[in-house]
Formats: sequence, C-alpha cells, structure tokens
Amino acid sequence: MCLSRLYHHISQAWPPRPKFTDKDIPPLDGKVYVISGANTGIGKILAQILYSKNARVIITARSQEKGDKTIEDIKREVPVSKGELIFVRMDLADLNQVKTAAHEILQREDRINVLFNNAGVMVLKGEPKTVQGYEEQLGVNNVGTHLFTQLLAPTLVRAAQNEPAGSVRVIWVSSSGSEMQSPPGGVPMHNLDYHEKADPFVRYAISKAGVYYQGAEFARRYKGAGIVSVPLHPGILNTDLFRQANGIQRRLFTFLFSYPPIYGAYTEIFAAFAPEVAARSGEWVVPWGRYMDVRKDMKEATKSKEEGGTGIASAFWDWNEEQIRPYM
Ligand SMILES: NC(=O)c1ccc[n+]([C@@H]2O[C@H](COP(=O)([O-])OP(=O)(O)OC[C@H]3O[C@@H](n4cnc5c(N)ncnc54)[C@H](OP(=O)(O)O)[C@@H]3O)[C@@H](O)[C@H]2O)c1
Repeated sequence: MCLSRLYHHISQAWPPRPKFTDKDIPPLDGKVYVISGANTGIGKILAQILYSKNARVIITARSQEKGDKTIEDIKREVPVSKGELIFVRMDLADLNQVKTAAHEILQREDRINVLFNNAGVMVLKGEPKTVQGYEEQLGVNNVGTHLFTQLLAPTLVRAAQNEPAGSVRVIWVSSSGSEMQSPPGGVPMHNLDYHEKADPFVRYAISKAGVYYQGAEFARRYKGAGIVSVPLHPGILNTDLFRQANGIQRRLFTFLFSYPPIYGAYTEIFAAFAPEVAARSGEWVVPWGRYMDVRKDMKEATKSKEEGGTGIASAFWDWNEEQIRPYM
C-alpha cells in the first residue's frame, strides 16, 4: 500500500477532533427527520440530539418493543423538548414491510427535511438471505434502503421546493470497509446473486461500496430537484454493529477503536446540517465531518463511460430500480 493510501486509512480510523457538532445545529422546531435503524448505536444518539433541538423525529426499528424502549430512553435523557418522537416499524430485509413503513410515514408527514439512511447490517457468519432472497447485506443495505428512499423521494422533492436551498438532504451511511475490502470496481455487477462465493466481510464491503454509489447517483439524478445527497463513512465506533464478533475480536476492536457512537452522529450531523455540504452533493464525507477522495476505481464508477468512468454506479442504481419496481 502506498503512503498516501496508508495515511488515508489512518486518518479515517483515528480522525482529528470534530469541528461541527450538535452545538452547531440551530433549533429545529417544525422540521421533520427520518432515521432508519434508530433503536441503537449511531441512529439512537442522532435521534436524541435532533429531539433535543425540538425536531419531529421519525425513528424506525424492527420491533415495537425496540421502538418503545428507544423513545423511553431518549425521553429520560431529554425530559424537556418541544419536539416529537414517532416510531415506525420497519425491517429492511422485507420489501413488503419497507413499503408499509414508508406509506405510514407518508400518511403522517407532508414534508421530510432530512432522510438518514443509517440502518445497516454486518454479517460475519454464514449466508443469510432476506425475505425476497437477496444476500442479507445487499438486501438490507442496498435494495431495502433504495426502496425506502424512492418511496419517500416525492415528499423530499416537495420539501425542497419550500425549504431553504440546500437544506433538504439524504444521508447514505456507507463504510470505509468499502474502500478496504471491495473488489476493483466496488460492486461486481455480474455476481449480485453470489453464484461466485465471497467472504461475509467482502460482501459487507461490496454492499457499502453500493451505498456510496447510491448516494453519488442520487445526487446526480435529484440535482434538478434541489435535494443534496451525502454518502459517508461515519467512523469506526464501538456499537452493536459487531454483535456477531466473538469475545476476543470484540475486546481487540474496543481496545483499538474506542470511539463512542456520538462521534458517528457528528459525521452524520455534519452531512445533514453543515452549510458547506450544500455545494458538494454526492461527495464522500469521512469522520468526523470532512471531505476526502474515495478510492480511485470507486470514484471512476460514479462517472459514465463518456465522462471517462466505468458507469458502475449508474448500472447499480438501475439494478436496484429493477428490484424495487414491483413494490413502488
Ligand atoms: N460502528 C461502526 O464502526 C461503523 C463503521 C462504518 C459504518 N457503519 C455503519 O453505520 C450505520 C449504523 O451502524 P451502528 O454502528 O450504529 O450499528 P448498530 O448499533 O448495529 O445499528 C444498526 C442499526 O441498523 C438496524 N438494522 C440492522 N438490520 C436491519 C434491518 N434488516 N432492517 C432495519 N434495520 C436494521 C439495527 O437494528 P437492530 O438493532 O434491530 O439490529 C440498528 O438499529 C450502519 O449502516 C453501519 O453499517 C458503522
């Protein structure tokens, strides 16, 4: 690995102090935020921060029990707020449930200021599949998230017509794993059914390269609608994401990367609220709210062949569109 790539990874694993935090967010009275996977980790602390700023926060989780507990916990931490916490049940591993969840949100809300596509799964063992038969990480991190976003998109478009320019945003939580472990090109379009086997972590990395592509493509396709799209690596944080790791792996991980989840929330807050982000839709944000070049072949994937790229991001977007068509 060349020195500049080494610096690239070190700087993302042990980043400089955050410059944009919850203290930089103005009061959010009357604003609406949707956070997927908000019952734990980064999503939960993010929900708490937005609620403390008087926002109306839609939190999705996979069960009523998890949703109720999250709301109870946040209200204990933030006893006074003019905001609201609303739970919507959603399992991204079932496209029928994603559709039901999105419709529930659309019935309640006539605008969404920011959609945080935060939920994600990391599989360390076996070859689990979603209800519709996709490899779990591809199905949850990409296909389910794509359907959720596209069902909410008309409301985001409407919001962008009425809210301050550059303030309506979609945040796509990817991972530095995409740069470390995905094959050249990021997403192997010929193998999305995994007829050629791949290790679980490589499959995670592929799904997260896909999330970067979805964020970059959304920026391109919704530019005219005035929505800002931000793909990001939130940081390496001590959360439940590594729940399948064994005791030794977890202890080693915690020893090396002991950042609490609030730091990941800072990265998402920068993406969602920092004024400078408005002019940089589709660019890769890294911890705790900075810009960095993404791996060269992944950057090239976001350009068409006519622009000198490989067009993989656009092809991956179209593939996702094909998968969600029956549920739109
Ligand atoms: N932690 C890190 O070091 C790190 C690094 C890079 C990227 N990320 C990304 O950051 C995001 C947040 O992760 P985190 O670290 O906060 O991990 P986490 O604590 O495990 O939170 C992940 C959230 O996603 C939800 N989720 C998982 N599978 C789902 C499904 N099928 N349907 C709906 N929701 C589902 C989880 O719900 P349950 O609780 O029900 O499972 C949980 O709410 C993820 O996209 C992750 O890939 C994290």
